[in-house]
Amino acid sequence: MRERVDLHKAINAVSDVVQNRPRPLRDFDQIHMKTGDMVVQSEIVADWADGKRLAFIGDGDAVSVAVAYLKVREVLSFGPSQITVFDFDERTVNAVKRFADKEGLSHLDAQLYNVLDPFPEPGAYDCFYTNPPWGASNNGESVNVFVERGIEAVGYEGDGLIVIADDDDRDWAKNVLANVQAFSSRTGFYVSRMQRKLHEYHLDDDPLLRSCNLFVSAVPGNGERRVPSVATDKSRFPNFYGNAQEPRVRYVRELKRPDYGKAPDDEYRLELLGDQNG
Ligand SMILES: C[S@@+](CC[C@H](N)C(=O)[O-])C[C@H]1O[C@@H](n2cnc3c(N)ncnc32)[C@H](O)[C@@H]1O
Repeated sequence: MRERVDLHKAINAVSDVVQNRPRPLRDFDQIHMKTGDMVVQSEIVADWADGKRLAFIGDGDAVSVAVAYLKVREVLSFGPSQITVFDFDERTVNAVKRFADKEGLSHLDAQLYNVLDPFPEPGAYDCFYTNPPWGASNNGESVNVFVERGIEAVGYEGDGLIVIADDDDRDWAKNVLANVQAFSSRTGFYVSRMQRKLHEYHLDDDPLLRSCNLFVSAVPGNGERRVPSVATDKSRFPNFYGNAQEPRVRYVRELKRPDYGKAPDDEYRLELLGDQNG
């Protein structure tokens, strides 16, 4: 039985993490999870991956940072022993690294990586987490690319947590759930738990769309089928980020070192007290 979480401390810690999050780029399906759901999700992930090496395959939400920070801040007494974020957005990678450096999170790191490339450290992790593009226009094939990289990260053994759309009124979400579960099964993983309709997002054109936690675990002996990681076949590219949106970017580069907690100078103009008199 885990101890009760001090909600006040937890929300304030996650608020620090949210301040540090780069703004989302909708072209790549970056849509951030709401803060309350981040708090709950971080506790779930910390409990699930307690004492393990955890790879995040993409993490614009910064759940990775929240999980690491809550442990160091002693809001949670449990959590992963090591967390690495693999993301193609340099703003995300640098934001994770800067936060880890500033707050002394020695067990948190990030690497620039595109899921279309072979995975750099196959088998180096015990579990993986992914909140990928949700594959609404390709029947979940983009989800499967991210899941495949996660499975490579854990060497075809261990556990995964996949965060994808969950909505009873949308056929595409049901088809994606079925396709991702079928793909996981073909790769030697079974669905070990599902927490339905758990998270909401800052998604202005579809604020009611929610996601679930889909937990998968390897069948015994699955590590023996380990195959070398190779680049993703182009046949999986169509509609990757939505209708007619193929991947064409290797990395999103950071142009300047921003301070996400402060308004940039080009966002406002100061009208001085004396100005009204001419
Ligand atoms: C696609 S978003 C999904 C929505 C999620 N709520 C979020 O904003 O993180 C997940 C993460 O995947 C990353 N991502 C998108 N395409 C990628 C790619 N080809 N390789 C690696 N990471 C990618 C994004 O930068 C983002 O951080």
